[in-house]
Amino acid sequence: MRSKPGVADSSGAGEEFVEYKMVKMGGPMFSLKRTKMKPFSSLSGSIGFLCCLGLVHGLSNGVARLPALAYNTWNAYQCNIDEDLIITTAKLMKSLGLQAAGYEYVNIDDCWAEKNRSSTGELVADTTRFKSGMKNLTDQIHALGFKAGIYSDSGWFTCAGYPGSFDHEAQDAETLFGKWGFDYLKYDNCAIPFDDITRQGIVGKYAQMSTALANFAKTGKTIVFSLCEWGWSQVWLWGATLGHSWRTTGDIGPNWPSLAAIINFNSFITQATNFYGRNDLDMLQLGNGGLTFDEAKSHFTAWALMKSPLIIGTNLSAITPDILGILTNHEILAINQDPVEAASVSPFRWGVNPDWTSNDTHPAQYWSGPSQSGTVFMLLNTLDESSDMFFNLTESPWIRAGRQYSVRDLWTHTDNGTAIRNFTAHAVPTHGVVALLLKDAGNEPNGIFPQCAVWWQCTAEDGTRVGG
Ligand code: GLA
Repeated sequence: MRSKPGVADSSGAGEEFVEYKMVKMGGPMFSLKRTKMKPFSSLSGSIGFLCCLGLVHGLSNGVARLPALAYNTWNAYQCNIDEDLIITTAKLMKSLGLQAAGYEYVNIDDCWAEKNRSSTGELVADTTRFKSGMKNLTDQIHALGFKAGIYSDSGWFTCAGYPGSFDHEAQDAETLFGKWGFDYLKYDNCAIPFDDITRQGIVGKYAQMSTALANFAKTGKTIVFSLCEWGWSQVWLWGATLGHSWRTTGDIGPNWPSLAAIINFNSFITQATNFYGRNDLDMLQLGNGGLTFDEAKSHFTAWALMKSPLIIGTNLSAITPDILGILTNHEILAINQDPVEAASVSPFRWGVNPDWTSNDTHPAQYWSGPSQSGTVFMLLNTLDESSDMFFNLTESPWIRAGRQYSVRDLWTHTDNGTAIRNFTAHAVPTHGVVALLLKDAGNEPNGIFPQCAVWWQCTAEDGTRVGG
């Protein structure tokens, strides 16, 4: 047991026709003919599509109601991928118990394609590394009980220089999801065409694929759409109208400063997350780089309790029992996959910093949120030394004044007594985390002083101000 919290003192524009000839950009020559470019018309198409579904939130279109639990190749392998690796990884997901823990998607990131489209403009899978073909691969993934994810880009090229889907959205949807049988699309933001070609911003560019997927869904298959545009254009304000998740930051690194900066940024936009649409804090780095065990636990806890997709990105054939244990913590996963309460945890006190202060090194430390089975607390020790972490229960909006709470530790899997008024987690390790589930355990004992846990404005019935 690495941290041992304990109970403390109980006290649009119209249609446009543009034609392009031979463009060269970091790759072979392409003949590009662009027709019927309709800035924002696709967005309104999406909204039209959305309007008729009786929306609860965002797309609400039958898939990705809860955060995706997945594997993705990028963080561990970058471009060194092939079909054998994908199948080996899927089999390991099964044999290591990750599938049983809920992980559902096996996703291929960048570098799976040939550099040139076919003569009819179709994407072509790398004929050496994916020699058996993508349909064969998704069939195998499906046979293992998983769903399959693929990657493309909203511009001319992917970030590694393979063909992007710009101006090929409908055709690529047909290839990737119709012919090849993928179920999930991560959609990147590299190689953005000139403004006088797109005549639209990021929203419009992503709307093109969202519309293509909405049209494809009419065939009976709805695709999970994962926007990856690194938080540009305040995606948390509109991402839910186009897709199921949206990256909010640049690429994650396998080190604590990167994790802390991502937590800090996302601490200010937690309200964007709901069923069917959520902030994506980027793929997990558990098992990679130089994260300590406590940092790995904090990483997983923050991502899970902030309701991010949880996308494993390490070499599963070399995974340690420690990391596997973190990834399969069923009590943490249950919060991430809560079918009743979609909300992210949010900070109620920043701790090191004045409240609402952005600090990449010291993000907010005291967080809470609702869950179907109680109030979740997350305490993050961002300091470079272990420290006690104290909070008054009613600092969280989901706690009832005058009640006591049983305390469940979601990492030690123990019940840690009853908290009255406040709680102290003792000796939380450097960059470590405490995750608690507090359940209402009835009225607090009579005669507790002060009469109000929050002293300000505490007033007797006769009007006597007893507090500050
Ligand atoms: C971008 C994305 C990454 C990864 C790479 C692939 O950097 O943000 O997650 O997909 O592209 O080239």
